[in-house]
Amino acid sequence: MNNSTITVSTEPEWYRKAVFYEVMVRSFQDTNADGYGDFRGMIEKLDYLQWLGIDAIWLPPFFQSPLRDGGYDIADYRAVLPTYGSMADFDEFLAGAHARGMRVVIDFVINHTSDQHEWFQASRTDPTGPYGDFYVWRDTDTAFSNVRIIFTDTETSNWAYDEARGQYYWHRFFSHQPDLNFENPAVHDAVMDIARFWLEKGVDGFRLDAIPYLYVTEGNTGESEPPTHEFIAKLRAMMDREYPGRMLVAEACQQPQEVVDYFGSPEAPECHMAFNFPVMPHIFYSLRAGTAAGLVSTLRELPETPQGSAWGVFLRNHDELTLEMVTDEQRAQMYEWYSPEPRMKVNVGIRRRLAPLLDNDRAQLDLANALLLSLPGSPFLYYGDEIGMGDDIWLDDRDASRTPMQWTDGANGGFSEAPADALYLPLVSTETFGPHAVNVASQEPNPASILNWTRDMLALRRRMDVFGTGTMTLVEASNDSVLSFVRAPESGRGDTVLCVFSFATEPVAVELAVGSPHVTLLDVVSGAPVGATDDSGTLALELAPRAWHWLVLGP
Ligand code: GLC
Ligand code: CA
Repeated sequence: MNNSTITVSTEPEWYRKAVFYEVMVRSFQDTNADGYGDFRGMIEKLDYLQWLGIDAIWLPPFFQSPLRDGGYDIADYRAVLPTYGSMADFDEFLAGAHARGMRVVIDFVINHTSDQHEWFQASRTDPTGPYGDFYVWRDTDTAFSNVRIIFTDTETSNWAYDEARGQYYWHRFFSHQPDLNFENPAVHDAVMDIARFWLEKGVDGFRLDAIPYLYVTEGNTGESEPPTHEFIAKLRAMMDREYPGRMLVAEACQQPQEVVDYFGSPEAPECHMAFNFPVMPHIFYSLRAGTAAGLVSTLRELPETPQGSAWGVFLRNHDELTLEMVTDEQRAQMYEWYSPEPRMKVNVGIRRRLAPLLDNDRAQLDLANALLLSLPGSPFLYYGDEIGMGDDIWLDDRDASRTPMQWTDGANGGFSEAPADALYLPLVSTETFGPHAVNVASQEPNPASILNWTRDMLALRRRMDVFGTGTMTLVEASNDSVLSFVRAPESGRGDTVLCVFSFATEPVAVELAVGSPHVTLLDVVSGAPVGATDDSGTLALELAPRAWHWLVLGP
């Protein structure tokens, strides 16, 4: 499988045609029986990711950290956490990915550090020293009172008192994660140097963690403030100048009008990609409501994105399924549908995995995944979802959906040879989702498995550039349980695809206002003709419950 002649493409806009796969090092494969996945394990599994059809791997933080927030609490930006391996192991992993034509994007967590970081320790104990001003310190806890709390389940204030310094420090996340002070130019320099350190190693891009929160000014919300955008533009300019072809993806959970600002402007470009937080929860809403109305209006409201940019579309990730981007009524309804147990909620969201959320029902899973692969932008898959892994709501916080990857039906699901009680988290152990029921090895030989379905779909999508780079135009449907849009090639050359998704649980007849009269349509998956548009450019279709189709428009 390993073909040493493959290398990553030199296309500058590679990220527009890529399928990304998020996996945490500790969750994938343990090779030294200490119960934690490691870079040697990541290296072993590169062939699997290549086989699956992944173009880019997103690694959440793997740096020195007390691991009180899954590693998003960084104590040293330039050191690999020894549990995960050495820097040489990381280098070998990166080279191995590149040799297989896969890119590697790493998390860049610059809004805050761990309170264990030496900068913070120096800032606490030496207020007039070089790091005295690296964090946001005040004598009282009253400033910035307009700023909301994000971790509503654990934090009651964005300020915490430090005994050593006798002052309060600002934090948007856990109180052990003090926010860096971007008003201080020395912080800019320090952050730029860390970026260069990893770019120099050859990483292909950064996910900009918690990026809206860099600056906070009195009377404002501390989200998406103008100097935050200026800093991102500065980082982008450095990368364009010194490391062209590398990419930035914004984690900005913001409303449509604000999230597009993270792409920047032609004069001051910012990120190449931004996660599409507005669309994601509406997919889950539609699946239960049986209507596509909310999804259609969210897609309609999405502002145009600049030339060369791309959405990062996703269904699940290592965090909760956030419900910040839906109305209060929709949120209440979604809690009712998707969080029957109070334990399933966390903050403003739901801490469950894709398969259990969708009743482990292939029709719903296939519909959601097919839509994910059709929407404008590049899909981000979450490890384990390709085999329909489950979660463990008895674990704390977001650990519910961060359990070990299930490779086989053997001990510890083939993840580790450590004693079960030494694992970083236990394997899922239910009848439906435990490794005896859900694992890679048993799905590989089964052509009908969700694993092979995913692999086949990625292969199909890869042959059709239009899904990555094409335009999207919504198509009017006579039945509001149906979502339909046309993906057309940017350049005018190549296939045009009509995408159709029925959220109804009953068969429906629908008329789609495709626009062009007398075009024939061919189902991409089956290769079968499915009819033609009439004189008025309308296509009539009978759709099975939760059906989806990719239909190529004929001449
Ligand atoms: C981001 C990460 C999340 C983390 C938080 C604080 O939202 O995705 O996992 O807890 O930032 O770093
Ligand atoms: Ca290990």
